[in-house]
Amino acid sequence: MTGQVRGVQLARLLGQWHALPGRRRSPDYAALAGSVRGLLADGRLPLGVRLPAERELAEALRISRTTVTAAYRQLRETGHLASRRGAGSWTMLPGNHRVASTGLWTPLDDREMLDLGVAALAAPPQLLSAARAATEDLPRYLSGAGYHPTGIIELREAVADAYTARGLPTSADQIMVTSGTQHALDLVLRLALAPGGTVLVESPTYPNALAALAGRRARITTHGLAGDGGWEPDLLLGSLRQTRPKLAYLIPEFQNPTGHLMPAWLRERVVAAAHAAGTDLIIDESFVDLSMDGTEVPPPVATYDRHSRVVSIGGMSKPYWGGLRIGWIRASAPQVQRLAAVRVGVDMASPVLDQLVAVHLLADAEAIVADRRVQLAVQRDALLGALARQLPEWRVTVPRGGVTLWAELDGPVSSALARAAEEVGVRLAPGPRFGLDGTLERFLRLPFTLPAADLVEAVGRIAAIRYDLDRAGRQRWREPAVIA
Ligand SMILES: Cc1ncc(COP(=O)(O)O)c(C=O)c1O
Repeated sequence: MTGQVRGVQLARLLGQWHALPGRRRSPDYAALAGSVRGLLADGRLPLGVRLPAERELAEALRISRTTVTAAYRQLRETGHLASRRGAGSWTMLPGNHRVASTGLWTPLDDREMLDLGVAALAAPPQLLSAARAATEDLPRYLSGAGYHPTGIIELREAVADAYTARGLPTSADQIMVTSGTQHALDLVLRLALAPGGTVLVESPTYPNALAALAGRRARITTHGLAGDGGWEPDLLLGSLRQTRPKLAYLIPEFQNPTGHLMPAWLRERVVAAAHAAGTDLIIDESFVDLSMDGTEVPPPVATYDRHSRVVSIGGMSKPYWGGLRIGWIRASAPQVQRLAAVRVGVDMASPVLDQLVAVHLLADAEAIVADRRVQLAVQRDALLGALARQLPEWRVTVPRGGVTLWAELDGPVSSALARAAEEVGVRLAPGPRFGLDGTLERFLRLPFTLPAADLVEAVGRIAAIRYDLDRAGRQRWREPAVIA
């Protein structure tokens, strides 16, 4: 959603704005303005978009135009809206804000914040020695220009070898190095999707994938994950057959945010259904290394691919460090060449030094990843323990890998909770961030990437404000009589 947001779109994003817990006795216009501020703060409403005209929004929300006028006035006064007579009103933020690593807009002075909006670990101790070793290797590259659109050969070989070790024979010419998995997704979309093309995604899914799809003007259809197993096989295969999307974007290993792991038999059937439907699959393997409790990860989805339908993407960010900005695409060799041609029009190539750091980290993969799994299991258990003690009404499925829990709350309070949590120094990414249409208010993603003590402290603070939300009392929404 860029440029302009229509009345019905904003109404959908606003959802139950009038009945949010914690609203207390504020008038309707203030509650509406507060909800728009909330959407801006958690990134669901981008900056610089034109809001609908007052009359259009009033009609979409079925409230009086005076209420919308007063809400827009308040948003202008608080610095969240800029208006020009005759031209409309644009979203903005008051001064002193920055983009957090979650993509959310946050105040600058938030160093004390316990950030549960980010699902990524701090760097492993081995990173420094890998960086030092990489500088020793650098002279080998300095006599060339340094542009390697598909990546330096050492890293492409290391990534290809890792696929081969997972049972999927892969050669270096099937690998293209990118600046992170997000970049990999964007490049694949540029190559494979015309504006308006249909893409099937899981719901909930990774929010920045939705942002990449919106950026390519994709038409998105969803497959809802539910229950203990996540994917509903008949529904998923049925949607592929019936909708015949151009692309499907799936996260089969420890899905972000739910933590589900797709079984081998379903992988095989998804690839077959995709082929029959003419759908290409983008398989995001960001979490594939991070299994826990001895859980065996099924063969890569691409193992079942006979027709170059599957493009796999992955990267260093989750097992190693997001700050490296190294990811990759595994595809057929001709596809890699086409992707490289697209890439030179975007960013030419990834930095050589960072790729060399990645080579050294991958050489030590076994030890580093083993430490990460232990660390994550300890942190996950600390988080689960704190939730069981402090918020026993919340339901969680224990993830067997990855870095996140997907908690089902005791009411549709996720956005209200996230707003209140900021006040007590905890940043949360509310459930609706992981969907398309303002639903998922009953869910909250909780990453276990912070140290155990921080996670326990954060849950204590969340439990305290959850209790306060109830005491503020729920407002009943009366259907307004006036439609202006
Ligand atoms: C499923 C998924 N894909 C992609 C990314 C982005 O990864 P990168 O930092 O490699 O761009 C993330 C990061 O959270 C993710 O969870």
